Amino acid sequence: MYSEKVMDHFQNPRNVGEIEDASGVGTVGNAKCGDIMRIFLDIDEEGIIREAKFKTFGCGAAVATSSMATELVRGRTIREALQVTNKAVMEALDGLPPVKVHCSLLAEEAIHAALWDYAQKNGIEIAGLSRPKSDIHEGEEEENW
Ligand code: FES
Repeated sequence: MYSEKVMDHFQNPRNVGEIEDASGVGTVGNAKCGDIMRIFLDIDEEGIIREAKFKTFGCGAAVATSSMATELVRGRTIREALQVTNKAVMEALDGLPPVKVHCSLLAEEAIHAALWDYAQKNGIEIAGLSRPKSDIHEGEEEENW
């Protein structure tokens, strides 16, 4: 059901941890499943992401997508990091089962939240970046029970 890459990133996650005095920190959760992801970015004066780390309290797919997302944004510019969408993360992992797609949204949103935090701290605007949600479940249609 999971690709080898997903299993690899779940069992040997890259970039786990925190960055002290990070340039930007983003935390997002999904109230529906209760999973939480936090991404730390270290961004230099040229706007290059030098380091990316994560802490995820969540399912295996959330761990694998955070691991891959941090790999994908390291060494990239802010503009390039904005293109690391959940689709890009899933492609890099050779796909996720449909019921796990929402887990990859956490990774995309956590990167956006960390970039937003960086922009706020530095009083800048990042084109194409809007205020991230703290709960990716927000705005989804309510289920009828
Ligand atoms: Fe919630 Fe995966 S089940 S992030």
